[in-house]
Amino acid sequence: MLNPKMEMELNKQINEELYSAYLYQSMAAYFAANNLNGFAKWMDVQDAEEVNHARKFYHFIIDRMGKVVLEAIEKPPAEWDSPLAAMEAAFKHEQHVTGRIHFLVDLAREVKDKATEVMLNWFVMEQVEEEASVDEYVQMLKMFGGKPQGLMMINREMGKREDD
Ligand code: FEO
Repeated sequence: MLNPKMEMELNKQINEELYSAYLYQSMAAYFAANNLNGFAKWMDVQDAEEVNHARKFYHFIIDRMGKVVLEAIEKPPAEWDSPLAAMEAAFKHEQHVTGRIHFLVDLAREVKDKATEVMLNWFVMEQVEEEASVDEYVQMLKMFGGKPQGLMMINREMGKREDD
């Protein structure tokens, strides 16, 4: 059985992951509206990945005979000042998610829940990858994004992202 606090926080994480999906779908729409279809594609894939993250938590709670309780998903922003501002916001959001995952690991240790701790190991490493992949584009945008050719090059690159 899941510890009640652990169960509540795992449920909260479903909401966090679904908000992440919503945020990235909103970013996809922002990029599509600005004719940056490569950026939009990248965000579409990211959106699907976040839904998968939510599903991992959902199934884990059920497998542990816990109760899934879904809450309202917060409204994400719809506009950013520039592609760089959007990608910086995505990076900041991933840092927030990393903080949440680390908090869950600490809680699992505190309540001596080995199964949750092991399940979370995947997310700890996933967050390393998530931050690194967003930061790569933040850095590219800082270097080349100020010029139309640079932005188009990054747009082309991002559009190559395959569905996971
Ligand atoms: Fe599910 Fe991007 O963290």
